[in-house]
Amino acid sequence: MGSTHNPTEEPARRKFFARVIATIQTAIAATVGVVAGGSILSPSFARREENWLPVGATFSTLTDNVPTAATLRVAREDGYSQIVERRVVLLVKTGEGQVTALDPTCTHLGCRVSWNVESKELRCPCHGGVFDHLGMVKSGPPPAPLPRLETKIDGDRILVQI
Ligand code: FES
Repeated sequence: MGSTHNPTEEPARRKFFARVIATIQTAIAATVGVVAGGSILSPSFARREENWLPVGATFSTLTDNVPTAATLRVAREDGYSQIVERRVVLLVKTGEGQVTALDPTCTHLGCRVSWNVESKELRCPCHGGVFDHLGMVKSGPPPAPLPRLETKIDGDRILVQI
């Protein structure tokens, strides 16, 4: 008494909930697919693989075995805006058609090294770290050589991989 249970309604209700659950599962699978696919196909992913940027110096202006500072313009996405950062690299001509690019960030605590013309060394102003012209540690606290970047020469242009 008082029960309004209708046995024919139960299978219909089950079918309805099964359909709702299947729809939600399909929506979740589609969302995951779009996110995963987007990260694989997005241009930023491709850029990370190989990003060659021209530096603001040409090969013919370099002097043998003398690190020369040159700038790179590196664009990166920051939310909805694009930020262009200027990054300095040291270019060293080591022979005809051969160039080495060094990151001038000292491997001790991150100060920027610069070329000392008299001593022919790269010196760090912070704690006296000294590197040779190819970024190898000569003395002081730096624990490792200056990092190198891959380079490519295209005519007189120099490209650096970031
Ligand atoms: S940061 Fe260069 S020697 Fe300390």
